[in-house]
Amino acid sequence: MEVLEKEILKRRTFGIISHPDAGKTTLTEKLLLFGGAIHQAGAVKSNKIRKGATSDFMEIERQRGISVATSVLAFHYNEKKINILDTPGHKDFAEDTYRTLTAVDSVIVVIDGAKGVEEQTKKLVEVCRMRSIPMIVFINKMDRNALDSFDLFDQLEEHLKLHPVPITFPIGDGLDFKGIYHISNDTIMLFSSDDKQHLPTYELIEHLDSPQVIAAIGAQHSKDLHEHTEVVKELYPMFEISKYLSGEIHPIMFGSALKNFGVKELLDTLIEIAPHPKPQHSENREVQPTEKNFSGFVFKIHANMDPKHRDRLAFLKIVSGTFRRNTPYHHVRLNKKLKFSSPNAFFAEKRKIVETSYPGDIIGLHDTGNFKIGDSLTDGEKLVFKGIPSFSPEHFRYIINQNPLKTKQLNKGIDQLMDEGVAQLFTLQINGRQIIGTVGILQFEVIQYRLLHEYGAECSYEMLPVYKACWIDQNSQSEDLMAFLKLKQKFLAFDKNNQLVFLADSKFTLSHTQQKFPKVKFHFQSEFDAD
Ligand code: G4P
Repeated sequence: MEVLEKEILKRRTFGIISHPDAGKTTLTEKLLLFGGAIHQAGAVKSNKIRKGATSDFMEIERQRGISVATSVLAFHYNEKKINILDTPGHKDFAEDTYRTLTAVDSVIVVIDGAKGVEEQTKKLVEVCRMRSIPMIVFINKMDRNALDSFDLFDQLEEHLKLHPVPITFPIGDGLDFKGIYHISNDTIMLFSSDDKQHLPTYELIEHLDSPQVIAAIGAQHSKDLHEHTEVVKELYPMFEISKYLSGEIHPIMFGSALKNFGVKELLDTLIEIAPHPKPQHSENREVQPTEKNFSGFVFKIHANMDPKHRDRLAFLKIVSGTFRRNTPYHHVRLNKKLKFSSPNAFFAEKRKIVETSYPGDIIGLHDTGNFKIGDSLTDGEKLVFKGIPSFSPEHFRYIINQNPLKTKQLNKGIDQLMDEGVAQLFTLQINGRQIIGTVGILQFEVIQYRLLHEYGAECSYEMLPVYKACWIDQNSQSEDLMAFLKLKQKFLAFDKNNQLVFLADSKFTLSHTQQKFPKVKFHFQSEFDAD
């Protein structure tokens, strides 16, 4: 097998998504411990944006500098190269939380066993579902009182529209947590709350029918487990890897990240079943990772904290071929050659200069303003990758220039911040007024602050009640479309790529408009297949 092919098969690039506090940081840390990437719990945690800092965006901006280090965490485990992409679970999460999901090949969804499905998980899972990203669910905090497992499965089905396939099943919970039963392996792992800093050692019992079981977990738990296992087998489908890979079923595993229980099993399952880097669609063709020619796309841009240096770090996901340091590559949108003398690779919490990188890897490229989100870099071919859409923001405000003498600076600042993917800009068709749309409300403050400090431009905002931005498919020139465009002209705007967007002011308006103009296609992301 060729080196490139071998490297591709070794890679697992995934994201961990959860509602804040479900245990994503703790789980990430335990995964890193297994990889030997860190030697002590707490290393990642100290990088986490501190809780309670939600209203203090300066603090968040400061910590953003630190969080670059945790944007990608790479380590080796069992001859695999694992790349974990951080999707900030912060309350005021931003565009790049969504965008990071365009660069992962699979996802772990962490659910707090006591709280069940929570709000932010819904939004993130929806994006993954839309993209058919394979997902494994980890139900965490089983060492605390948890909801009934079957109720949790129901929630996953009902609120996240997932199709659960339990791989493991818990025995008790909270103080009465006895362990986990691996259904297809027919083994019980007995829970022991030992030193959480170290790699776990726990007793295994082979076979549910073994006489040791009652002695270990008690007669009642043994009886319950037999019953629960029967129900699982009856109600839920068997695990089939092809269905997992196509996003049709979702393996469920239980554990406690804090107590490092069930985490190794999760990682072992992940490296066994999670996909290696997949082909990526471009506007022209499907690009195979095994192609000799290098290609990749930018999914995230991190601005420097120091306003005097406007250099940024562009995160590039490698799609095909081998990336090499100091080699000229083609920047497709700008139609120019660029080479990189110090591309960064991310290892655990360290960054280092990398000589070569392979599909599935993420590299950080120092940038002085050449890149924007979605840009591609190739060996020469004019590839434009699909699958890096904008999603509808949730908050919208008019942006108002406070100093007409600084109009140029303001426009330049807005332009660059939008290229970074901090927020989205819409321009009203009827009067050219500019609207900023963000995913988290805090982003408005960040933009205001950065415009002033980095570009010397002052702005203010005016509230705008918009429920959702819907991209309009203008290809079908139906009468419906014409009538819609006429009736709603006050609510039509262009996004940064001049795509037409309908700014619906309420859920009601949106569904009413959809009913009235059934032939008009409304899309909640900027990328869609024209019918
Ligand atoms: P997040 O990144 O998803 O926001 O969650 P994080 O890992 O920070 O975990 C949130 C809280 O939940 C932390 O407690 C953490 O210790 C706890 N936690 C995570 N996994 C488990 C688990 O399996 N069992 C139990 N019992 N607790 C868990 P904290 O007190 O808020 O923070 P800290 O003081 O421990 O840092």
